[in-house]
Formats: sequence, C-alpha cells, structure tokens
Amino acid sequence: MVASRESAPSIAELLARPGIEPGERRILLGHALGVSRIELVSQSQRTLSAAELARCDALVARRRAGEPIAYLVGEREFYGRSFAVGPAVLIPRPVTELLVEVALEHLPGDTPLRILDLGSGSGVLAVTLALARPSARVTAVDNSGAALGVARANATALGASVTFVESDWYAALARERFDLIVCNPPYVAADDAHLEEGDLRFEPPGALSAGTDGLAALAHVIAAAPNWLETGGWLFVEHGFDQASRVRSAFAASGFGAIGSWLDLAGIERVSGGRHAST
Ligand SMILES: C[S@@+](CC[C@H](N)C(=O)[O-])C[C@H]1O[C@@H](n2cnc3c(N)ncnc32)[C@H](O)[C@@H]1O
Repeated sequence: MVASRESAPSIAELLARPGIEPGERRILLGHALGVSRIELVSQSQRTLSAAELARCDALVARRRAGEPIAYLVGEREFYGRSFAVGPAVLIPRPVTELLVEVALEHLPGDTPLRILDLGSGSGVLAVTLALARPSARVTAVDNSGAALGVARANATALGASVTFVESDWYAALARERFDLIVCNPPYVAADDAHLEEGDLRFEPPGALSAGTDGLAALAHVIAAAPNWLETGGWLFVEHGFDQASRVRSAFAASGFGAIGSWLDLAGIERVSGGRHAST
C-alpha cells in the first residue's frame, strides 16, 4: 500500500502547518523527532513515519490545550545550564537569574560558606550556587517531595553537591547557621487573575500563591531568618513587581541592615535583601 501524501508529510510540510506559533512548533518537532534545529532544516524533505507523525501531533495538541512548552520538552535553561522540569516544579524564570547574580556579588570568593536555598523547586538556585562556589556547603529545602526528586536529579546530572531536606521552610533543619539564604517563594496573591492564564494554570499551586496578598511566605521567611543566619549573613528574596517596599519593611522589622532592592532587566525591583546585623 502506498501511503497518501496527507498521512506522510515531510518535516517541512509539518513545520508549515498552522495552529501554534512557528518557533514553538520547531521546538516540539525537534523534541518529538530527537533532532536539532539544524537537522530539522537539513532533513526538511524527509517524510515522517506514522509513529513520528503521531508523536508530533500529540505534542502539538497538548500545546494547543495550553500545556507549557517546558513541561512538554521536559527542560528549561537557567543560568546557561539545562534543568529537567515537570509538573511537580515551577518552570524557572529568567528573572530568577537576578537572585543568583545578587547573591554571588555578596559572597566573597570560593570559601567554605554555608548556603541555604528555601523553596528549591527544580533546584536551579541551589545547583547554580553550588557550581559557582564549589567550596560552599549548600542545603536546599522544599515541602514538596516530588519537587525534591526533580531537584536531586538535576543536582546529580549537573554534578552539584547539595543536601536536600523536605521541610516546611526552616522547620526540619538541623540547628545551624548560614552565611547566605536565598529564597524565591510563592508570592502571587491568591485571587490574582494571572493564576488562570498561560503556563501558571499548569504549575503547582503551592509554588505560586501565598495568602491573600501573596506576602505570607515572604513574611515568614524574612521574620525567621535571623535565627538561621550568622551575624553578617545575607538573605536575598525574589518578590512580585509591586511588593518591594513591603518586603523592605519586613526586612527592617526583623532588624536587618544594608537593606536594598535590585532591578530586573525591565527596571522593576524584583529582588530585595539585607544583612543580619546581630544574633
Ligand atoms: C516560586 S517556587 C521557586 C522554585 C525555584 N526555587 C525557582 O526559583 O525556580 C517556590 C517553591 O517553594 C516551595 N514551597 C512552598 N511552600 C513551602 C513551604 N512551606 N516550605 C518549603 N517550601 C515551600 C514550593 O514547593 C516551590 O517549589
């Protein structure tokens, strides 16, 4: 039997189909066929097998239903490295790279510091900091066992040494003090309409929203931090576009000094932090 042209399109024909944005279609086809972007071009006249076509169609249908590209291909780049991601973890955002940059600016060279990442999700912060400061002892906490599984796999795949702890923020940590704490907590207000839009509909609710004003997790992490920081240690947090002044007030109320906020590439205050002045 000779397959009809419709049932056996070429890569070029499939790429030209409407329905989703062309760049996304290229990513999904490359993933489904296990080929690079360049190979999609160099093999553009190749006719797909029925199995390949079914894989491509299934991914495109899921994308049309709204599933995030990162979950469909199972990875997202952060700070120049590829991290495995899935529905158990927040998809790492480019803005979170600012938190890494600010943290590294405040860490003296590679000394045996202790670093804590609260709410580690896929592990992007803990793994990136551990690789940037190989002499540091890095601990990462999340209250989601499934997220910790993803983060552990990322640490192993990328060769980072991180201790993972399942915990409600600081609750299950051994009594110790850290030189640096970083935290990208859930900070979306519970009634924020964005939770019903785009990728957010598919991400774990516990990674996104915290309390009616979105500040509950930030307030807890900042208020308790002095019990877990060395004198002179730093806490840096990511927060919402309109939360910087309230977050700075929380740092001040907890006795922090050197309080500041840092701008993302859009000129918006997205990271704030301070130094623990005394024990
Ligand atoms: C916004 S995500 C950040 C994930 C990752 N650090 C990143 O930047 O992509 C917040 C993370 O905090 C975790 N989380 C939420 N509530 C928590 C709690 N009470 N204790 C520990 N982790 C919590 C969530 O499971 C989620 O992985």
